[in-house]
Amino acid sequence: MSAALKDVDQLTEADAAAELERLAKEIAKHDKAYYAKDAPTISDAAYDDLRQRNLDIESRFPQLKRHDSPSERVGIAPSAQFSEVKHAVPMLSLGNAFNDGDVEDFVDRIKRFLNLETMPAFTAEPKIDGLSASLRYEKGVLVTGATRGDGRSGENVTANLKTVADIPHHLEGAPDVLEVRGEVYMSHADFAALNVRQEELGKPAYKNPRNAAAGSLRQIDPTITAQRPLRFFAYAWGELSEPLSETQTGAVARLGALGFSVNADMARCDSVDAILAHYRGLESKRAQLGYDIDGVVYKVDRLDLQERLGFVSRAPRWAIAHKFPAEKATTVLKAIDIQVGRTGTLTPVAKLEPVTVGGVVVSNATLHNEDEIARKDARVGDTVVLQRAGDVIPQIVEVVLDKRPADAEPFEFPTICPCPLKTPAIRELNEKSGATDVRRRCTGEFACPYQRMEHLKHFVGRKTFDIEGLGEKQIAAFFEANEVRAPADIFTLKVRNEAGELSPPLAEREGWGETSVSNLFAAIDERRSIALARFINALGIRHVGEETARLLATSYGSWAEFRRAAEAAADPASTERETMLAIDGLGETVVSSVAAFFAERHNAEALDALLAEVTPEDAEQNSSDSPVAGKTVVFTGSLERFTRDEAKARAQGLGAKVAGSVSGKTDYLVAGPGAGSKLKKATDLGVAVLTEDEWLALIGSS
Ligand code: IVH
Repeated sequence: MSAALKDVDQLTEADAAAELERLAKEIAKHDKAYYAKDAPTISDAAYDDLRQRNLDIESRFPQLKRHDSPSERVGIAPSAQFSEVKHAVPMLSLGNAFNDGDVEDFVDRIKRFLNLETMPAFTAEPKIDGLSASLRYEKGVLVTGATRGDGRSGENVTANLKTVADIPHHLEGAPDVLEVRGEVYMSHADFAALNVRQEELGKPAYKNPRNAAAGSLRQIDPTITAQRPLRFFAYAWGELSEPLSETQTGAVARLGALGFSVNADMARCDSVDAILAHYRGLESKRAQLGYDIDGVVYKVDRLDLQERLGFVSRAPRWAIAHKFPAEKATTVLKAIDIQVGRTGTLTPVAKLEPVTVGGVVVSNATLHNEDEIARKDARVGDTVVLQRAGDVIPQIVEVVLDKRPADAEPFEFPTICPCPLKTPAIRELNEKSGATDVRRRCTGEFACPYQRMEHLKHFVGRKTFDIEGLGEKQIAAFFEANEVRAPADIFTLKVRNEAGELSPPLAEREGWGETSVSNLFAAIDERRSIALARFINALGIRHVGEETARLLATSYGSWAEFRRAAEAAADPASTERETMLAIDGLGETVVSSVAAFFAERHNAEALDALLAEVTPEDAEQNSSDSPVAGKTVVFTGSLERFTRDEAKARAQGLGAKVAGSVSGKTDYLVAGPGAGSKLKKATDLGVAVLTEDEWLALIGSS
């Protein structure tokens, strides 16, 4: 507590970290009392002091800024307060295009995939900068409204969405099941007025209209949401009991006729030139629209083509967001810190004089790597141009040379890891390309405490083990005390604590008590059984993040199957490697990295220790009700109805594995005209050979 009384200037880093944690909790508690219960527990002045102190500490120790920092948030993050809604059809995100060339590539990809000579028509419409929501109507009655969440399930905010003026509660003449999707947003005028009111009430102002919309929609008390002027544009749909139309244009018009607000600036375009002209038009009238947009979304107009194009990972192949150029600002580069990532990469982080860009205060930006610093010749003391687009990490674009102080020295990138071991950090040579890796990486691997610590932090992260009460701070403390050095150690904490091996015992340490200790052990025990995708993600394999982990989990179904395949994939000629490479969304980089991870002795040992404590649950495999799920298919010869890519994507969408060559494991060979050696081999091996039409009949498509 004494730290709370110290001047910010006097705080040690440890004091500051502890105090930021305390402030985050305390401010959250007051926010809850204020926003959710409308019953403030302290005076406004005292509340402002808390926030100011939090800001002061963060500006002195920007590296300590917490993920749940009150300065990043207004109001409460009530995710735990709302029930969960599983989306009947996942809510997808969009791929991005940043320039005209990206748009041309997008159109070309679609033409190639569909084997079209000419471009299909597209719609082009504003990308609204709000938050997406899904509204489910059954027999014309609004029954559920949800946020996007992670795309698979979101928060049930029905009562709040019902307060939005342009969301109808009843529909006439709608399909029996209709899920309407669109964007909840706040206009500039309403945003400004809301902030005036907030200020009059002594409440913190919202940073930008999107935050205001999000904060307003996620209020626990819908009567508060009702006082917030939210709006909604409908632009997509989820589950439907009957189609809305044959085209995007028609479907949106139908939503308009049903009573939804639809955007008037949607155009139908027959050429790339027309698309780009619409983009430029919207860019120039952006400031007059009265609400924030951050780009233009292009969608293939014909819905049957959308269906054929399908999805990759979380984004449709048939749509893309063409972003407006990022907002820029100028500030001073105060220092360049080196951070060590989980895989040992030394990343330079620019510490900046705080500046507002794109509606938020930025004090850190990435400098990417050593070459990038050299290319920009960024020096401490320089004035730099900063840009920030959407939610991406702010970047330094260039240095303003005529403002460079006379004594600014070129930055010398360290060649040793900043960790206490001071291990050499090197840039590997890529054998294939002959080029040096842009990343300088610490060679300490398992010995490097920074890497191990990052690895453990990743292991307990929200998207991995997510153990309540065991956050980054606690992990760091256990790590420094030598009590948790590898993931398995987390699961033996309880036994060791009870055996008196932790000294002092956990409950006697600062920040812990009997209750929090028993809660922690209960939370750890809860994770002894864990979803396969989370488990794979937690391993921290290079190039395997949340999405890839999910893909691996649904492709292999069980840990045993995955591990067996991953170990066998180390052999470049193995069918396991080929099968893994055939998974849509995986390439050489991921597969090599997975194989290398399992081939490494330390990893295998750490895994075995972990598996003695934890059991990964089996995952539901893709489309297991399809007759081709889990089967291995090879396509050969020329296909007449589809391009090879489309055929492959469809098969994989149904849970089949697509391989490049025939082996004893092949279940079907789909042979078109001109099939040669593969056909012969399949016949020799007794593999079922199908024509393209027979294949289509098998998968129930024509
Ligand atoms: S279509 C399957 N259209 O952008 C495609 N999205 O970056 C679903 N967004 O999550 C999205 N305006 O929240 C679409 N006119 C628009 C949009 C739009 C804003 C948002 C949406 C989505 C995000 C993807």
